[in-house]
Amino acid sequence: MSIRTGTVNGVATIEIARPDKKNALTIAMYEAMAAALDAAREDAAIRAVLITGQPGVFTSGNDIEDFMARPPGQGSDALDSPVARFMRALLECDKPVVAAVTGAAIGIGTTMLLHCDLVYVADDARLAMPFVSLGLVPEFGSSLLVPQLVGHRRAAEKLLLGDPFTAEQAVECGIANAVLPAGEVVNHARRVAERFNSLPPGAVREAKQLMRAPQRDLTLATIRTEGALFAKRLRSPEAMEAFQAFFQKRKPDFSKFK
Ligand code: COA
Repeated sequence: MSIRTGTVNGVATIEIARPDKKNALTIAMYEAMAAALDAAREDAAIRAVLITGQPGVFTSGNDIEDFMARPPGQGSDALDSPVARFMRALLECDKPVVAAVTGAAIGIGTTMLLHCDLVYVADDARLAMPFVSLGLVPEFGSSLLVPQLVGHRRAAEKLLLGDPFTAEQAVECGIANAVLPAGEVVNHARRVAERFNSLPPGAVREAKQLMRAPQRDLTLATIRTEGALFAKRLRSPEAMEAFQAFFQKRKPDFSKFK
C-alpha cells in the first residue's frame, strides 16, 4: 500500500508514499485516500485532515500506466471511478483539509489543492496542470476555479500551455497560503491543522459549508462536463501518443493530428 494513514492529536494524516514512481496515484491509492477521508468525516475525535507527500515529490499525478490500462469509465461509470470517489470525498469533507506540498505537484496533484482549505508549499514545490500536453482536458473543476483565481490569460498559461509554476507563484495567485522551507512545511501544516482542536467543530463545519455553498452546484456541473470530455480524451489517439512518448522517454509528436 502506497498510502500511509494515521491520526495524531486530532489530525488525520494521508501521506502519499510511492517515491519510486514519484508518488503517481494508482486506483488502489485513490481508494485508500477516499476511505481515509470518509473515515475522518465520521470520527468525531478528528478535527482536521492533513495531506502530504514525500520530500521532493507531492505527487506526479495519475499513474499514466493505469490511465492506459484501466481508464476511468465513461458516462455514469466515470462518477463512480476511484479517482472520482476520492475527489468527491475531498469536496464533501466537512472538516478542514490542509495540504503540505513538497516538490512536484502535477495534474491532479495541483487540482486537488484547489479543493483543500489551507495549502502550504515548500520552496522547492513545482506545480503544473499539463492536461492539454497529454491530449486531455482540465478536470475536477480546474477549468472553472483556475480562471476564477487568476483570470483567463494567466489560466491559459497554466491550463493550455501547461506551464509549471513555483511556490511563490502559487501563493501569489491564491492557490497556496504560504511558502516554507522544504524541511519545515509538513510540521508547519500540521501545527495549523492542530489549531482546529481548540476551535468549536460545529462552527468550523458550518462555516466551511457556507464558504463552499455559492459555488457548489456550478463546481459539480463543471466536474461532470469535464469528466465526460476527459474520459473520451483518455481514449483519443492524441492521448495515446502522449502516454507512449512519456514511457518511451521522448517528445510526443502531434504533427499528424487535425
Ligand atoms: N505515472 C506513472 N509513472 C510515473 C509517473 C506517472 N504519472 N510519473 C513518474 N513515473 C515513473 C517514471 O515512469 C519512472 O519510472 P521508471 O523508473 O520505471 O522508469 C519513475 O516514476 C521516475 O520518474 P522520472 O520521470 O524518471 O523522474 P524525474 O525526476 O526525471 O521526473 C517528474 C519527475 C514528476 C517531473 C516526471 O516523472 C513527470 O513528468 N511525470 C509525469 C507527470 C505527468 O504528466 N502527470 C500527469 C498525469 S495526468
